Amino acid sequence: MPGPRVWGKYLCRSPHSTGCPGAMWWLLLWGVLQACPTRGSVLLAQELPQQLTSPGYPEPYRKGQESSTDIKAPEGFAVRLIFQDFDLEPSQDCAGDSVTISASGSDPSQFCGQQDSPLGRPPGQRAFVSSGRSLRLTFRTQPSSENKTVHLHKGFLALYQTVGECPSWGCREGASVPSHDPDAAADCHPYPSSLPVCGRPVTPIAQNQTTLRSSRAKLGNFPWQAFTSIHGRGGGALLGDRWILTAAHTIYPKDSVSLRKNQSVNVFLGHTAINEMLKLGNYPVHHVIVHPDYRQNESHNFSGDIALLELQHSIPLGPNVLPVCLPDNETLYRSGLLGYVSGFGVEMGWLTTELKYSRLPVAPREACEAWLQKRQRPEVFSDDMFCVGDETQRHSVCQGDSGSVYVVWDDRAHHWVATGIVSWGIGCGEGYDFYTKVLSYVDWIKGVMNGKN
Ligand SMILES: *[C@@H]1O[C@H](CO)[C@@H](O)[C@H](O)[C@H]1NC(C)=O
Ligand SMILES: *[C@@H]1O[C@H](CO)[C@@H](O)[C@H](O)[C@H]1NC(C)=O
Ligand SMILES: *[C@@H]1O[C@H](CO)[C@@H](O)[C@H](O)[C@H]1NC(C)=O
Ligand SMILES: *[C@@H]1O[C@H](CO)[C@@H](O)[C@H](O)[C@H]1NC(C)=O
Ligand SMILES: *[C@@H]1O[C@H](CO)[C@@H](O)[C@H](O)[C@H]1NC(C)=O
Ligand SMILES: *[C@@H]1O[C@H](CO)[C@@H](O)[C@H](O)[C@H]1NC(C)=O
Repeated sequence: MPGPRVWGKYLCRSPHSTGCPGAMWWLLLWGVLQACPTRGSVLLAQELPQQLTSPGYPEPYRKGQESSTDIKAPEGFAVRLIFQDFDLEPSQDCAGDSVTISASGSDPSQFCGQQDSPLGRPPGQRAFVSSGRSLRLTFRTQPSSENKTVHLHKGFLALYQTVGECPSWGCREGASVPSHDPDAAADCHPYPSSLPVCGRPVTPIAQNQTTLRSSRAKLGNFPWQAFTSIHGRGGGALLGDRWILTAAHTIYPKDSVSLRKNQSVNVFLGHTAINEMLKLGNYPVHHVIVHPDYRQNESHNFSGDIALLELQHSIPLGPNVLPVCLPDNETLYRSGLLGYVSGFGVEMGWLTTELKYSRLPVAPREACEAWLQKRQRPEVFSDDMFCVGDETQRHSVCQGDSGSVYVVWDDRAHHWVATGIVSWGIGCGEGYDFYTKVLSYVDWIKGVMNGKN
């Protein structure tokens, strides 16, 4: 199993472009981005706590500076912030150096001093939870004659994270929230985490598309879509609130047995634009489980091209992050049935930066067999695969779409089902594409998810 590595926890989006030069490129190329406490930066909170510090922390801070940071949560969620260390020069009514916490619709609170100073007002161990989606922290220090660090105060270190919005909390000093347990506030998710509803986007796709050409997805059309970066870009689909269904060959590519074994596995969700997803941060992977039938060294046999990534934490679900359902019936594979495949793959020779989708029919098995035979292809087209497309139409599945899913609408259950995983094809843009038939692996998937494999 590749050992997953964790990176990219911080986001800095400064309105002044000099603040964090080329930050996006750093993230794209190396997956590294630094927190840079410039004036007026915006941070996006994630489920996992992240750090925010005063400039230069833990070195004594400079006098005569002011900076504010807006911390934002995704739609429908709130920001929770708690101080781990707080060491500011005390002053009467915090008229000197101070930290101010504010959120729309509530009075700002101002703090200064250390934990045990009689003068001043330190925040202590209380948690601040925004009443809306965002919370602002302003750090202000008094100008002095030299603006130097003549004092020995470190400043502050705070942890912030996304939590479910709890109407009763408000931006107040939540005494009811224990301070040392970052998970304590997590029981307030607007969606229950044990049994999330699958296959029901809040913003369903407008199903009046007539051509088979690809279109740009709208936010929330495919809320299960994951973007993966392992050996290259790939896709996946969210199952439950902690699992990503993907293709085994995104983890062990067929043509590169000698590639580094310990490739880092990065998973992103929650948006249709790659750069927005990167800003939301990656979801650390706890476990990678590849189907035992998969043979990396057999380049023409994609049997068992299925894998599951177990995330370290449950993902907070919302309109842009929802799971897809698993198939339970052969009828979801009848030829002619129209489904959708979405992904971030190559299109017209270019890597896309936006999620695209195509509406394509399930193809008759015999047509795909004949098509392969005509081309004298050695690839194995087994019963645990099916094919999608139309010989006469251009399609758009290509490199980079691997691992993404093909979904069909289940008329009986009234939800979207992931029937296929983009597995292999011959060239891009013509004929058929071959998918892992998820129905053949549902027992394995459920076994793994229930901890039996
Ligand atoms: C100290 O900093 C303040 C605010 O940045 C500035 O207005 C002031 O001129 C500085 N004083 C000195 C002596 O540098
Ligand atoms: C599809 O339907 C949506 C809403 O019903 C409408 O806004 C859009 O213009 C339609 N698109 C086409 C191509 O008919
Ligand atoms: C992969 O990483 C694990 C743990 O970090 C280590 O034990 C193992 O030796 C590494 N394998 C390779 C092939 O580098
Ligand atoms: C392809 O791989 C599967 C699973 O590893 C195996 O059962 C099957 O026999 C292989 N097919 C061929 C034609 O090699
Ligand atoms: C692939 O690897 C398996 C197990 O290591 C081995 O049994 C099999 O012969 C190999 N197949 C090929 C085509 O090299
Ligand atoms: C599959 O769907 C068909 C038609 O809706 C139904 O008659 C059949 O009972 C279903 N099979 C299973 C195993 O649910």
